[in-house]
Amino acid sequence: MPFNNLLWILLLCLLLPGWAFDCKNEKKCKTSRVHGLKTSDCYRMDFKEFPKCLPNNIEVIELSYNRIRKIYQEDLLLYTYLQHLYLTDNLIVQLKNNTFAGLEYLETLDLSVNGLLKVPPSIFQLPSLKNLYLSQNKNINIAESIEEAKPIGSTSLTKLDISYISEDSPVEFPDFKELPLIAFLNISGNAFDYLSPKHFAGLCNLQILDNSNVTAQYENNCDCWIINRWLTERNVDFHTFLCPLFSQECSNEQMDPEDLKVFEDCTEKFKNIKQWHVLKKVALWLGGVLLVILILGIGFVYFGCNKNRKTKKQPIMTLRERVELMHVENKVENIYI
Ligand SMILES: *[C@@H]1O[C@H](CO)[C@@H](O)[C@H](O)[C@H]1NC(C)=O
Ligand SMILES: *[C@@H]1O[C@H](CO)[C@@H](O)[C@H](O)[C@H]1NC(C)=O
Ligand SMILES: *[C@@H]1O[C@H](CO)[C@@H](O)[C@H](O)[C@H]1NC(C)=O
Repeated sequence: MPFNNLLWILLLCLLLPGWAFDCKNEKKCKTSRVHGLKTSDCYRMDFKEFPKCLPNNIEVIELSYNRIRKIYQEDLLLYTYLQHLYLTDNLIVQLKNNTFAGLEYLETLDLSVNGLLKVPPSIFQLPSLKNLYLSQNKNINIAESIEEAKPIGSTSLTKLDISYISEDSPVEFPDFKELPLIAFLNISGNAFDYLSPKHFAGLCNLQILDNSNVTAQYENNCDCWIINRWLTERNVDFHTFLCPLFSQECSNEQMDPEDLKVFEDCTEKFKNIKQWHVLKKVALWLGGVLLVILILGIGFVYFGCNKNRKTKKQPIMTLRERVELMHVENKVENIYI
């Protein structure tokens, strides 16, 4: 075999790891339907790399309690129908910005209990991502990642768990303005360098805030009281922040007009995104209906034509047959005469 051909084959093997990978050597995860979704259960199976031989149309992958260090975009592009990915308690330290890009249907991503230092900003741009768990990654700068992800166009993120992500030093509280759908936020066990009412103004859909064991500094003593009042007025389920001594001045302190504006913008954006989601659903539904009508229409036309052809063919055939029959009969008659 010429050397060039060998090179080509080598190159192909590098480009198509899924195809070239020998699946006989990979541990087999149990695959079944769970709640109607095609699920591969690879829980606690000592995987050191992302499995490459699961069914391509898999919708749920459970990979918690393994020893995976690295995940590449090529690994995930084998499974583009993925909706829920659980990677709790692995050894992931670093992820590339594009690792999860292309997972259009990903709704749940659980990266809790890993060693991540940074969350790829592009995670916040995944169009279907609803639930993101980042708990117990010791020192993530989540504020920076969200900042880098801006502008965030269409977001679905409603549940975010960033509990216990500040082990060595206090972290910055993220700016959630561009993620207005967030309804559940877990910040428990964190130390924040400082908290102010503006941090909560952009959380206009917040319903549950788990802030147990949170420590924070406040720029202004009244800020803590304003935050407690603001969250209480909005019926958020939370633990009252332990505030510095109450001073009489704080009882009349209100939210800054600038923060009120942020809240209004958030509400507006929330409405737009909700409408966009409804529109998308309606469009998909309409598209489906139109497709069915189109297929039915094509079917009718096709079968209609065939039927016509058959009914037209019938007399021609019989005519020819009749003529042929006549010939044969004539011949027979001729012979016998
Ligand atoms: C990460 O990817 C997003 C697009 O998905 C892009 O907007 C952003 O600038 C990238 N960030 C970095 C640090 O490359
Ligand atoms: C928030 O996170 C902590 C620690 O990870 C956990 O114990 C707690 O149950 C979470 N809160 C909620 C409401 O899920
Ligand atoms: C808060 O901290 C205490 C003591 O460190 C611990 O027992 C408790 O489980 C923590 N609560 C949460 C929700 O993390």
